[in-house]
Amino acid sequence: MDNKEMLDMKKTNAFIQKLLNIYDRDLPKSWCVTPAQTALEEDYLHSIQELGKLRGRALLYPYLGAGRGKGVYVALLDGSVKMDLLGGIGVQILGHAHPEIQRAVLKAGLSDVLMQGHLLVNKEYLDLSRKLVTLAQKNSRLKYVWLTTSGSRAGEDALKMARQKNKGRRKILAFDYAFAGRTTLMSEITGNPKVKEDLPVYDEVLRIPFYDPQNPKQSLEVLKSHLKKEGNNISVFVFEIVLGEGGYKSAPPEFFISLFEECRKYGIALWADEVQTFLRTGEFFAFEKWGLGSYIDICTVGKGLQLAATFFTEEYKPRPGLVSGTFSASTPCLAAGVKVLEILGEGYMGEAGLIAQTQKLFIEVFEEFKERSFIKDYDVFGLMASFSLLDCSMENTQKFLKQLFHNGVIGLSCGINPARVRFLIPAVIKASEIEEAKKVLIKTFLSMK
Ligand SMILES: Cc1ncc(COP(=O)(O)O)c(C=O)c1O
Repeated sequence: MDNKEMLDMKKTNAFIQKLLNIYDRDLPKSWCVTPAQTALEEDYLHSIQELGKLRGRALLYPYLGAGRGKGVYVALLDGSVKMDLLGGIGVQILGHAHPEIQRAVLKAGLSDVLMQGHLLVNKEYLDLSRKLVTLAQKNSRLKYVWLTTSGSRAGEDALKMARQKNKGRRKILAFDYAFAGRTTLMSEITGNPKVKEDLPVYDEVLRIPFYDPQNPKQSLEVLKSHLKKEGNNISVFVFEIVLGEGGYKSAPPEFFISLFEECRKYGIALWADEVQTFLRTGEFFAFEKWGLGSYIDICTVGKGLQLAATFFTEEYKPRPGLVSGTFSASTPCLAAGVKVLEILGEGYMGEAGLIAQTQKLFIEVFEEFKERSFIKDYDVFGLMASFSLLDCSMENTQKFLKQLFHNGVIGLSCGINPARVRFLIPAVIKASEIEEAKKVLIKTFLSMK
């Protein structure tokens, strides 16, 4: 960098700092859960209703963000402040308005292009690809990465890679409660019939029950029966190491390994769908945490990365033409993705990392809820936390979540039977904020009784 460039960079940084100061100036000095302002409520309700009409479907929660937030807190246009333990279903891995992300995004916003593709790319594309491949190579055979805009798109790329290599094999293995996204084929892989009501059935997916501690051998038996009939017609086994939409359940490594070993006998690609688990379980990839890296042929990630990506090994490298598209991601998202990985690499991962500490605090809270008979059971995998209410019904779970939202904490349901309350916790949450969320949860349990 020459002197002029250094000077320009300094000027840009000073300008960006000024913008950040303006953002901060209007924010409350300290944040906490705050009810809506009565004077704003009527207009707010109208906006929510108008949006419902425009979309042809009402919002699940009356949530219209004000574009302001800090860490776990988010301000809505009705003047309320909520604790966001959902984060755009996992996008806000560093909470709201993380200053380092804002700085990276503002700088990237001054770039010559907003959206990057795959043909003419800028440096952010290189920086993110390099960082992702370096991370993936640590504990797996994954060697390449292809960027894209959404988890579903990454899944389509993954599937095509598997099918091209395993030419002529139509079938896909997936768990009963899989969730893969909402393109036509990803909906087909998804287990929940609600996401594909009245769509044609393409009959390309063979189902395996997920791990049942009462009957741990069942999944392997079903897999073996599929392999016996269709083994040479199956291209790929797609699996989530922690079921996301399917109910925040996991299994011991041996469970996955027993299935992987059988699949390998037939040359079936092993595709870890980490769209929800990436960055969240206490290691960058859940396959690292579960010690499964050596098995993985293809892996998809998304959400907290601010874009999505498909990793693959040498064997599954697609031939030119198979995967591409107009967009890879926006320049600010690519720059933010690099920053997210840098920040989470500094103290968040590992046995003693900040994610493990947050997990421990949530376990303590949920353990108390169980003792006080507020909940039936719970699971916490790093920043993925969930519990079932006593009756496990979807109706009461939804009722509870709506009341919880009203009281100031945002979560979402997952699973079907049992239905669960889940949180995609931002990595930046503090112990005092977990205490505040706990109080709101208790208030909500008591109001439901
Ligand atoms: C495991 C899993 N795969 C794929 C997807 C689809 O990602 P997207 O919504 O970005 O298309 C999701 C989304 O929630 C997911 O949880």
